[in-house]
Amino acid sequence: MRSYTRGMTGADLTGVPETALWTLRNRAVEAARPDAYIDDPHAVRLFEQLAGDDLDRFGKPSQTHPLRALAFDREIRDYLDLHPGAPVVALGEGLQTSYWRLDRPDVRWFSIDLPEMVAVQDRLLPAEPNITRIGVSALDRSWLEEVPTGPAIISAEGLFMYLPREDVHALIADMAARFPSGRLIYDSIPGWFSRMTLRGKVRLTERYVAPPMPHSQTVDQGAELPNRIPGVVAAREVQLPPGRGLWGSSPVSAVLRRVADLPVIRNRRPSITALDFAEA
Ligand SMILES: C[S@@+](CC[C@H](N)C(=O)[O-])C[C@H]1O[C@@H](n2cnc3c(N)ncnc32)[C@H](O)[C@@H]1O
Repeated sequence: MRSYTRGMTGADLTGVPETALWTLRNRAVEAARPDAYIDDPHAVRLFEQLAGDDLDRFGKPSQTHPLRALAFDREIRDYLDLHPGAPVVALGEGLQTSYWRLDRPDVRWFSIDLPEMVAVQDRLLPAEPNITRIGVSALDRSWLEEVPTGPAIISAEGLFMYLPREDVHALIADMAARFPSGRLIYDSIPGWFSRMTLRGKVRLTERYVAPPMPHSQTVDQGAELPNRIPGVVAAREVQLPPGRGLWGSSPVSAVLRRVADLPVIRNRRPSITALDFAEA
């Protein structure tokens, strides 16, 4: 087994916060390619800075994370075009670098993550006058008071699967009350994958097992949320943009995308949901 050292460069994270290194690594590997479809120099710089942290423990890089990041970027951009001046709230933001990818210098950005992650963000990410980092659990409602009430775009990228379903639904209801005409984007895993994580079976390498992800949601369950959560008026599935190879835009990929939409498959694959909140 090759020797390695974790935490050499200041990101000595464990548990769910450690997963931010997994997603960062996958975005950075894509962004560092000469034919990259994601432009993310900050992710590449962070990746190089963390080179001593054995990021190879996360196994073979996957396109799911850079493509997911681009899907969230597109949603945030679209919302800001409709609601200029609205703040962005990034729940469980980890080492995401969306603020710089979006390049909207005037946007007010609120980043909510656990205190140990905010300490790492403060060390490794540039300070920006428009970014407010708040070191509390997303489930701790104190952060709601720090963001002006009114329309807001909220992202929860790679977060809700780690939290209990009832807590997530209660948080969504509270956000809908605080941010009328707001929008929430989040991603979900299917039930079979959640069960695998609960049994410790998602082993990326001999040095890394993904933590338990207790909360699953299917595409059909997402579509039902306006009937289940007060203040949610619309739900839609957000598609990933095309990537490379089987994730690309070839005829084979087009067929795979159609197959992924068949009812029998669509409730067994990961998905991204956008929820609209009621007007005031
Ligand atoms: C898979 S990472 C996702 C990071 C980033 N959003 C991305 O896509 O690269 C999960 C993130 O959720 C954060 N997290 C875990 N539990 C949390 C909680 N209760 N409240 C806020 N953030 C939390 C972790 O610290 C970590 O940054």
